[in-house]
Amino acid sequence: MENIELKINYAEVEHENELSVEEQNLLQKARIACAMAYAPYSQFSVGAALLLDNGVVVTGNNQENVAFPSGLCAERVAIFSAGANYPDAAIKTIAITCKSKQFLVDQPLSPCGACRQSMSEYEIRHHKNIRILLQGEQGKIRIINSIADLLPFMFKAEELKK
Ligand code: THU
Repeated sequence: MENIELKINYAEVEHENELSVEEQNLLQKARIACAMAYAPYSQFSVGAALLLDNGVVVTGNNQENVAFPSGLCAERVAIFSAGANYPDAAIKTIAITCKSKQFLVDQPLSPCGACRQSMSEYEIRHHKNIRILLQGEQGKIRIINSIADLLPFMFKAEELKK
């Protein structure tokens, strides 16, 4: 039996002023989207802002439903909106923030598995790494330079072929 170690890369900054102005603006747009989330059941709001390579910013937030599985996470609302409206544009950066009505979120959000897989589709589709910025309501910002670092062993199209 061979024990194999897997490494992923990420960085963290304590203050957003360590980011470029473009990325600070994107985080701010994610916070604005977060404030407009529809999350009456979990009281946990998430906002995502995507910067496309054509300069357009697309935002999304979680949309819950009384039949719980019928809702959708912020990341997928934003990504699918970008895919629907700008099918030829690659995603450069995704900023994701969150806020709870019940406690202070002072750690970066960790996107769910389904959102990681959904984001991976766009990285592969456009042959361009997506940079991810993650923050809670406040506190450090985690920076990841590719969905591959967020989802090692992602399911890929090659697996559908022999
Ligand atoms: N949520 C997101 O929008 N993104 C994530 O990556 C994790 C969870 C939402 C789904 C649900 O509306 C609420 O957060 C609590 O799970």
